[in-house]
Amino acid sequence: MATDPPVRGAGVGRALVEHGLARLADLVWCDARTSAVGFYERTGSRVVGEEFDKPGLGPHVGMLTGVGPRAPGASRSS
Ligand SMILES: CC(C)(COP(=O)(O)OP(=O)(O)OC[C@H]1O[C@@H](n2cnc3c(N)ncnc32)[C@H](O)[C@@H]1OP(=O)(O)O)[C@@H](O)C(=O)NCCC(=O)NCCS
Repeated sequence: MATDPPVRGAGVGRALVEHGLARLADLVWCDARTSAVGFYERTGSRVVGEEFDKPGLGPHVGMLTGVGPRAPGASRSS
């Protein structure tokens, strides 16, 4: 994902992630550029595994976000 440079830092990326997660399944995975790890951590994801190189794109890490009642760590009251 990317936001338009003139609006970066204004909350657009967070809004995109939050609205997307609200409409998706229980577990979301992505390959994140290491330069964007802090953004994904601030929007609820965590790093899994080791850093790896995506040819032509540079260093990345895998990240997971658990959402919904069947996500890892969610309480199961019903
Ligand atoms: C990463 C990106 C999508 C973030 O979008 P954005 O609209 O600037 O994000 P927001 O303004 O909603 O930021 C949400 C929070 O993340 C933080 N943040 C944003 N980019 C960050 C980064 N690269 N590293 C660490 N923290 C970051 C913001 O400071 C903000 O923190 P806060 O909650 O403490 O205020 C945007 O910078 C971008 O398009 N980058 C270039 C493309 C890219 O690297 N995409 C990721 C590919 S995996």
